[in-house]
Amino acid sequence: MDSRFDRVISREKTASIKWDGRKQKFGRDDVIPMWVADMDFASPECVIEALHNRVRHGVFGYTVRDDAFNEAVVGWLLRRHQWTIQPEWVSQASGVVPALNYLIQALTEPGDGIIIQPPVYHPFARLIKSHHRQLLTNPLQERAGKYVMDYADLEAKAAAGAKLLILCSPHNPVGRVWTREELERAGEICLRHGVTVIADEIHSDLVYAPHRHTPFASISKDFSMNSVTTLAPSKTFNVAGLNTALVVAEREDLRTRYRDMIQLQSAGSINVLGAQALKAAYSGGDAWLDDLLRYLAGNIDYLKSQLQSLAPRVRVTDTEGTYLVWLDFRELGMTPEQLKEWLVHEVGLGLESGETYGEEGVGFQRINVGCPRSVLEEAVQRLLKGVKSLDK
Ligand SMILES: Cc1ncc(COP(=O)(O)O)c(C=O)c1O
Repeated sequence: MDSRFDRVISREKTASIKWDGRKQKFGRDDVIPMWVADMDFASPECVIEALHNRVRHGVFGYTVRDDAFNEAVVGWLLRRHQWTIQPEWVSQASGVVPALNYLIQALTEPGDGIIIQPPVYHPFARLIKSHHRQLLTNPLQERAGKYVMDYADLEAKAAAGAKLLILCSPHNPVGRVWTREELERAGEICLRHGVTVIADEIHSDLVYAPHRHTPFASISKDFSMNSVTTLAPSKTFNVAGLNTALVVAEREDLRTRYRDMIQLQSAGSINVLGAQALKAAYSGGDAWLDDLLRYLAGNIDYLKSQLQSLAPRVRVTDTEGTYLVWLDFRELGMTPEQLKEWLVHEVGLGLESGETYGEEGVGFQRINVGCPRSVLEEAVQRLLKGVKSLDK
């Protein structure tokens, strides 16, 4: 128990997508919203105080990414991930999805092949298709409930002339934290075939021991020179609404192409409050994050143990990282539409449907446990009751 995370803070009527967007998403506003990936916790005190101080200044003019911003990023990556980067490798973005949008345009041409590993965060496929690049899927393989990469298929797609791999590390929605060995194998394939890697590491701070996040670019000089990493404080410190993210690239031509693209698209400005929050979080948010991870691990354990013992037909995938848990409802034998209807109208939960992440996700749902334990307990009770009523 931790009073900072146990506290229920009403987010209704705060223009929250997760809470105020329920009616639009689910057709009713009484489901417990556990879909979009933000948390219901207040950000750490150091972030709130830094924002207060900046707001009190009262002048919010155009803002640059200053030395303190870059140093905060360098310090965070070294302290938390033992990854040494140089300040000049850092560029900014208003979000990781906007960064991916510009990177795809900067690093590929229409018709080029881009590989993703579904079931995976759905904007990857959307961006590839909307820019008329060729979507190449390298589906993850499910082995005894654990997802692994299919290297033979990856090699075949890479050899066929793909230009990019968008790697989700840690992986949303399946919760894998790729090991160094897994990343090495995938990275070697990409090197062999001239495929540049975009490592989306937005969830990298949210990893549960004994698992450890390995930054893809930290593995070797070759990997670093063959990749671009996207990052943000948004998931870690629950500041997604402040629209501040990062692109890190050692190779000068890759970062120049990205920076030229954001100039071209008039997307190079930064958010004054987002920058302030990033500096505060990355300089003083360590202890809060350690406490958050303990709390989230407790939430995941609670969900898993309740379902395993009381509703084993709903399988809980092991969650090594992220606060998103991948639930397997296939044993209930419902179509995706029936499952969605049942969850919203009978159970009372607003989850994210598995097929959102690709056809490999049919029969699954993603539940977001970034909420106070009491809210999760209510959600689990609703689910247990719903499953029980199916048995009658
Ligand atoms: C893998 C991944 N990348 C990017 C994002 C979103 O990034 P942003 O809000 O910075 O655009 C998410 C959000 O859930 C995510 O899971």
